[in-house]
Amino acid sequence: MSSGESFYIATPIFYVNDVPHIGHAYTEVAADVLARWHRQRGDDTWLLTGTDEHGQKILRTAVANNTTPQAWADELVESAWKPLLETINIKNDDFIRTTDERHENGVRIFLQKLYDDGFIYQGEFEGHYCVGCEEYKQPSDLVAGTGEYEGQQVCAIHSKPVEVLKETNYFFRMSDFEQRLLDLYEQNPQFVQPESVRNEVIQFVKQGLRDLSISRSSFDWGIQIPWDDKHVVYVWFEALLNYVTAIGYGVDDEQFQRRWPAVQLVGKDIARFHAVIWPAMLMAAGLPVSDRVFGHGWLLVGGEKMSKSKLTGIAPQQITDTFGADAFRYYFMSAINFGQDGSFSWEDLAARYQAELANGFGNLASRVIAMVNRYYDGEIPTAGELSQADLAIKTVERAATDAADQAIADLAIHDALAEIWQLVDALNGYITEQEPWVLAKSDETRERLGTVLHTALRGLGTLAVLLSPVIPDATQKLWTALGGDGDVQDVVITEAPDWTGGDRVSALEGTLFPRIEHEPVAAP
Ligand code: MSP
Repeated sequence: MSSGESFYIATPIFYVNDVPHIGHAYTEVAADVLARWHRQRGDDTWLLTGTDEHGQKILRTAVANNTTPQAWADELVESAWKPLLETINIKNDDFIRTTDERHENGVRIFLQKLYDDGFIYQGEFEGHYCVGCEEYKQPSDLVAGTGEYEGQQVCAIHSKPVEVLKETNYFFRMSDFEQRLLDLYEQNPQFVQPESVRNEVIQFVKQGLRDLSISRSSFDWGIQIPWDDKHVVYVWFEALLNYVTAIGYGVDDEQFQRRWPAVQLVGKDIARFHAVIWPAMLMAAGLPVSDRVFGHGWLLVGGEKMSKSKLTGIAPQQITDTFGADAFRYYFMSAINFGQDGSFSWEDLAARYQAELANGFGNLASRVIAMVNRYYDGEIPTAGELSQADLAIKTVERAATDAADQAIADLAIHDALAEIWQLVDALNGYITEQEPWVLAKSDETRERLGTVLHTALRGLGTLAVLLSPVIPDATQKLWTALGGDGDVQDVVITEAPDWTGGDRVSALEGTLFPRIEHEPVAAP
């Protein structure tokens, strides 16, 4: 990938029926790390996130809380969803709400085009609808209910009964796109990832695609169909369009051309919407499909997908209040292979915080900077002749930079971190072997001491640059102490080993990752 390329990445837009939990925060962090990395390699980067506010689910929640859906959504967006982005340090370029005028307008333009081009028709529909999923269910998606729902068929995801809906709806001719979709998956194996999700999507499409009901007339919390005001657009059909309405679809061609297509990060539970319905919609409109659809795994608590409706939700702030945003970001990106499920536990988080961030990285930084302060009064020593050991560090710096950049291009965030951690480990080993505190005891080894501390300090600066997309606060603090030029997030990441700075260090304020005295209490 050459610098200056367009990199547009989007998260799903989140339902505002409830407050965020760490599963939602997980997608946000992954998207933000990828966006920060690309921004830092000089790509023309755009990170979009936002909220999904129409449909029955939100309407019912609002009614149950004695308010209007608009007032409910406004309240949740301001009190919960936007603050989430601050809690976990997300640097998004845009935030779209499906109640934004720009979205509603873009949806109307898109729909009218599909209608005019013959992709939409009116018909009768009867099916089993799950409001939790906002989706019609096939009989194979249902399971026998238990407890209060004994004797009824319930949605396998929400464990709640489905509703029989019979309506005159507008339909999208999705079945027309079956073969084109199969060709897409075949010709572009990167389109849906990882492999497990790709296989599932292919199986689903091979079973045969039916036309999709895309309007509702039994309630009015949605965007009206432009040619029939008795109908509102089906919430998923409308929500998927946020990825293009946010970048000016139908109104600002220049911006649209500059950004589209997007890398789409989604949970694997909603990969089908993004890898089947969404590309079919785009094909119908004559637009390029997404760049990639990556279905990440679930955060599990007690072996089950963590969810608010099952009362296993953990609020991101419960973690950041104790461990900080950097640790939150690092933990979820390093402990879980991106694309696989991962079990969350407080013990694992605390253990990795201590071993990897506090001992592995934080101590290394404190020790090296303290030695430059102690032995050289803060002035960075110059390097003398380089030994094999010094050159080996330089080699690891370059290798880690290149390998991490490649891993990020492949959306393998955990691999990128593992590559960067090779440098953390190499530097720790280097300090242990070179024993600068021994070299400091004699004038004869003064030059060698300078070379060792110089080499270690260069390595630390490279680490600060490479880790800044994942742990932006701690790396900036380290960067300042190292006397690095400007802000660490402005250093070109692919040139991390060539970073520049002044000739002095300053003391590191406190430690980068302080010892955690009190472990947080378990989720309420
Ligand atoms: N509003 C739809 C998406 C529309 S996109 C056009 C939606 N919203 S959601 O709020 O229910 O979920 C948003 C995202 O959170 C999904 O990608 C989902 O996979 C993710 N997660 C919800 N629970 C999760 C975990 N326990 N673990 C990881 N991700 C989880 O679906």
